[in-house]
Amino acid sequence: MRDLLSVTDALLAAGLLVAEGDQLRADVEIKPYGDDDFAGWICADPTPLDGRPSRPRPDFVLGASPASTTLAQLIPRQHVGSALDLGTGCGIQALHLSAHCDRIVATDLNPRALELARITTGLSEVSAELRLGSLYEPVAGERFDLIVTNPPYVMSPPQHSGLVYREGTETGDGLMRRVVAEATAQLNPGGTLIVLGNWAITDQPWQERLAEWIGEGCDALVLQREVLDPYEYVELWLADAGLVGSPEYATRYAEWLDYFAALGITEVGMGWLAVRNTGRAQPELRFEEWPHAVHQPVGAAFAAFFDAVTDARRATEDLLATHWRLHPKVIQETLGVPGAADPQHLVLRQQYGFGRALEPGTALAAVVGACDGDLSLAVLIEAVASIVEVDGVELRAELLPALRRLVSDGFLLPA
Ligand SMILES: C[S@@+](CC[C@H](N)C(=O)[O-])C[C@H]1O[C@@H](n2cnc3c(N)ncnc32)[C@H](O)[C@@H]1O
Repeated sequence: MRDLLSVTDALLAAGLLVAEGDQLRADVEIKPYGDDDFAGWICADPTPLDGRPSRPRPDFVLGASPASTTLAQLIPRQHVGSALDLGTGCGIQALHLSAHCDRIVATDLNPRALELARITTGLSEVSAELRLGSLYEPVAGERFDLIVTNPPYVMSPPQHSGLVYREGTETGDGLMRRVVAEATAQLNPGGTLIVLGNWAITDQPWQERLAEWIGEGCDALVLQREVLDPYEYVELWLADAGLVGSPEYATRYAEWLDYFAALGITEVGMGWLAVRNTGRAQPELRFEEWPHAVHQPVGAAFAAFFDAVTDARRATEDLLATHWRLHPKVIQETLGVPGAADPQHLVLRQQYGFGRALEPGTALAAVVGACDGDLSLAVLIEAVASIVEVDGVELRAELLPALRRLVSDGFLLPA
């Protein structure tokens, strides 16, 4: 009994239990958390059963939220030496990183988040250096192989900001821009940044705005998963703040719309951003609307993309001399009239990664279908040219851009 009392006193002193009259209430939640690679515990603020905090405290620390688990699936899980978990919150990403990173630094602006992350990592026997500070300040001058973050990306008016787990003090998507732009100086050569977040859509094309964020010598693959209009966006985040039905709801709503109008924000993009410090003189910058279903976890697909770009950019002779093979998880779908000699539509679809699909023409379908690693691309194109009775050199010139794209999109792999 005495032991139990001393544990209770310790928990009260640490602020993990709160006394209310003659009752005790847990101020945090500790839940088991793991996957195939690790098993641990997460210590965070309690999440109500409907999953939404009602009027969260300003220093609220998120548990394993849908954004946290989505980010975890975007991260390539190759073994690396060093990783930065920027805005660690309860420490959930650090747990995942512990399975494949030698050294982890986890930062947060919220001291309470670091206290709870310390409990998370301690209970889970994970070693991570926890550092207090904003963005890259706590790691100034250091470089990492991997940086992962779902920063406080909610773009709220300055008079509303105050929930540190979701909004910063920068204007519009300024904090997202800093996370991406300042990452270049923190990534080792070959290092990768993975971000889940929101960005403003203005009268400038979103692809062009975000391209300005990508540092010199870095490739990027940015997938815009969803677009919300200002009303949907404001309602989403007012509800998240537990303000539905409150007296200030209408005022806050109007202020938020005014804020967006003043900044020229007409819509909000939500998505995933991957950047790799490849050092290429002419980086590959890919910005795509990608609302389609993907095959999670897609972390490996982001890593494969950056590697495949190097293959797709091979000199023409090298590309043609290479023996390629179709990824084993590409399937062919055909649609047409029963009994007809040829289908009306033929689609090659990835049953992995981003789930890309392509409707190739006859010659491209024939070349790709024959890519089993036995013959070089040059030989295959020549053979198809003679079957369809066209000039081999012309067919080569016609197909090469599409073939390069199939390589960078992960349909074709060097055998
Ligand atoms: C959306 S939460 C993500 C938490 C955690 N990474 C996860 O996956 O659940 C954003 C985190 O960033 C922290 N944060 C807010 N502003 C920050 C800043 N300027 N620099 C570093 N971290 C910040 C918040 O305290 C919060 O823990």
